[in-house]
Amino acid sequence: MSRKVKWARIPEEFQKVTINSFDINLYSEQQSKEKAAMAKKIAANFVKKFDVLSQQGKGLYFYSSVKGSGKSRLGCSILNALLQVHDTEENPLSVFYTPTADLLGEIKNTMGGNSNMKSSDIIDAAKTVKVLLLDDIGVEKASDWVEETLTRILDYRLQNKKITLFTSNLEIDELDNTYPAGRISDRIDKMTFPVHMPEEKIRRKLAKQENESLLDLLLE
Ligand SMILES: Nc1ncnc2c1ncn2[C@@H]1O[C@H](COP(=O)(O)OP(=O)(O)OP(=O)(O)O)[C@@H](O)[C@H]1O
Ligand SMILES: [Mg+2]
Repeated sequence: MSRKVKWARIPEEFQKVTINSFDINLYSEQQSKEKAAMAKKIAANFVKKFDVLSQQGKGLYFYSSVKGSGKSRLGCSILNALLQVHDTEENPLSVFYTPTADLLGEIKNTMGGNSNMKSSDIIDAAKTVKVLLLDDIGVEKASDWVEETLTRILDYRLQNKKITLFTSNLEIDELDNTYPAGRISDRIDKMTFPVHMPEEKIRRKLAKQENESLLDLLLE
């Protein structure tokens, strides 16, 4: 089990997080609490109804324009839950996490030798795993060639009904600013159900709470 988690490259911070412990009351505004409750419900049902969604090849697209709203945490908790519930001996499940920037970095590296292209574990995994979490898509700068290669990876996943979860600070349509050919947003539109996360900076809030408790310690 923990070997699978390691292989999945889920960041240490999120290796043990659960959907259940996704805290709705961390959000201050009523509207945010409602959005958070809906996102949590969608995440839980996604795991529960994974077999159906898996046949349809449908993933989720978590987005909010603010940073630190809980997108990566919720995405990783889905990966953890899928490994807990749906990874059996008869039916092994492969899941994989990668920051989009890392994947694109690997794609760039494979350009190094011109005709003599190197393969890469991250690229292979991103293409072939049953469930991929592509974290934080849309911020990176991408050359035409990188865009083309990412399109091919997503295309492969779409054609083969592999499930992709995304997190982003952009709405799907806004991805066209980063990927002007429009082929990325088109594919993501087809392969995911969009989930608007609360527009609240939970990371900032938690950092502030942490510092408040540190204050006591440091001023003791
Ligand atoms: N609903 C929540 N319950 C518990 N912890 C949360 C919740 N939302 C966010 N956090 C915590 O807040 C921090 C920021 O969350 P996370 O990294 O998921 O944000 P993000 O939306 O992915 O941010 P970014 O846009 O910068 O990628 C993490 O430490 C995470 O564990
Ligand atoms: Mg994130």
